Amino acid sequence: MKEIVLSEAEISDICKNLGQKITDEIKDEEKLPILVGIMKGGLNFTMDLLKNITAPVLTDYIQISSYSGTSTTGIINMKKDMTLDCKDRTVILVEDVVDSGYSIHYLKNYLFEKHQPKRLIVVCLLNKVNCRKIDVQIDYDGKKLEENKFLMGYGLDYNELYRNIPYVFVPSDEEVKEYDRLLKERN
Ligand code: IMP
Ligand code: MG
Repeated sequence: MKEIVLSEAEISDICKNLGQKITDEIKDEEKLPILVGIMKGGLNFTMDLLKNITAPVLTDYIQISSYSGTSTTGIINMKKDMTLDCKDRTVILVEDVVDSGYSIHYLKNYLFEKHQPKRLIVVCLLNKVNCRKIDVQIDYDGKKLEENKFLMGYGLDYNELYRNIPYVFVPSDEEVKEYDRLLKERN
């Protein structure tokens, strides 16, 4: 039996709920806000959340990296910057999982220094609340997790494998071995 952390139905409910809250928060902005999906893990959530936001919003993407295998490295690299000008606009950052907090901390500093948005709203699907190494403000989370477990599916990968699984789960040791085998023999 798979250890499911978020089923497809739960993900759908979260997207509806957060989509409504974000809509209420941004609907009266003078300048159009920008929703920024954090690649690659945040893409699945970004797409489903967007469908549930009914206020006018611009979209963009940013790519950073910090994870390797099943743990965070703490060293953040900017791989792809956003392309729209977010000066004086509200930016909604959409992340899959907040773990140590380093990624969000890095992005906040980066965006304020380089692009000067009016304000940032941080949204994540999953919030590993006991894993913080640095304090960051999360404005909306889909689900809080007490335990630190390596998660996969719905954008979350194991060395780029299986972001396509439509729910979030904790892979077993056997499954991780199987993924290693796939990556070694068929990659
Ligand atoms: P942080 O910088 O430690 O907060 O980690 C955040 C990034 O690591 C997220 O953008 C995720 O993509 C990735 N990440 C965190 N936890 C997991 C996990 O359990 N599985 C896969 N990726 C994860
Ligand atoms: Mg990510």
